[in-house]
Amino acid sequence: MTFPSGFLWGASTAAHQIEGGNVNSDWWQREWGHLPGASVESPSGDAADSYHRYPEDMALLAAAGLDTYRFSIEWARIEPEDGWISRAAIDHYRRMVATALELGLQPMITLHHFTNPVWFARDGGWHSDAAAERFARYAEAALPALEDVDLVCTINEPNMVSVLADPEVGFPSIGLPPGVPAVTETLVDAHRRAVQIVRGAGKRAGWSVATQAYQPVPGAEAVAAAYGASREDVFLDAATGDDWVGVQAYTRTRIGPDGPLPIDDAAERTLTGWEYYPSAVGEGIRNAWARAGVPVYVTENGIATADDDRRIDYTRGALEAVASCIDDGIDVRGYLHWSALDNYEWGSYRPTFGLVAWDRDTFERHPKPSLAWLGEVARANTLVPA
Ligand code: BGC
Repeated sequence: MTFPSGFLWGASTAAHQIEGGNVNSDWWQREWGHLPGASVESPSGDAADSYHRYPEDMALLAAAGLDTYRFSIEWARIEPEDGWISRAAIDHYRRMVATALELGLQPMITLHHFTNPVWFARDGGWHSDAAAERFARYAEAALPALEDVDLVCTINEPNMVSVLADPEVGFPSIGLPPGVPAVTETLVDAHRRAVQIVRGAGKRAGWSVATQAYQPVPGAEAVAAAYGASREDVFLDAATGDDWVGVQAYTRTRIGPDGPLPIDDAAERTLTGWEYYPSAVGEGIRNAWARAGVPVYVTENGIATADDDRRIDYTRGALEAVASCIDDGIDVRGYLHWSALDNYEWGSYRPTFGLVAWDRDTFERHPKPSLAWLGEVARANTLVPA
């Protein structure tokens, strides 16, 4: 299976999950009980200290054979107080972009990956009428960091952001809570404004949606369609007319007449408790293409496991599904694995998604065999059957 020429191969991360010391974000404040929210197993702390170690992290990806690195810039660092922009933070992210380019990695930048500045959260967060305007102002302020960047993701998984807008809601293991309709509208508005700003600067804009492969049991088709409408489709529809749409897929959700069904007892589960289901990404791509009708990038796909052979199996299965979408004529332009590094999985360090592990005391990096494996696939632009 050979992929189209120019197909991007990479890995993704998010600032709060790897940088460390993101003290001005609402997540940090929640982790320490300074803002309302469900309690966490452990705080993010220093994370992987990638704020300082990003050159080493990027060099590992490039040396393995990958050509793209998706990372997020942190709003809480760039605008730590309402209306005040840190030039030093902008410079930091400019250096990250420059480092990626020097290493031969195309940087894909996410403007918002779940975390908000504390001031934004305290002032209503995404519930505030001013939220979309505030986000647009931040997007504008961030442009100098994006000078040499082509692909920009405005908001990561707006469907999860809508769910997380209720601070008491944690990450579910089956299905997705419905989200907050008014927040969904605000996010679509924020996205549209940011797309205009980013495009005005000559970049290609899109956003990345968590696709859940909602599969109806016979007779539950209408229930599944209704379930997916507010949790997935509304966000894919909002990508119509964008330059691209991102698909982020991990598992499937089977839907019965009363909603999501429990995972089969016999099914293999990953460290997040999700069903091992590599072909989910194909279903996500197909739905994104059918609804948004724009080029698709897989901006996240991966598995939390301590068994790196299983990570390779999973990724192989996922890439087979990606290849079959391409065979069917869908314009898929890249595959970015989640995640470059083991990272802070929103409350815990236990679920390990990384192609690279690191020592919790010394931060020393330990690339896993899966990184070399994916790098080989990338270099060959071909998936050789097992
Ligand atoms: C998010 C990541 C997260 C991953 C695994 C996605 O929902 O974008 O931040 O770590 O899935 O849960």
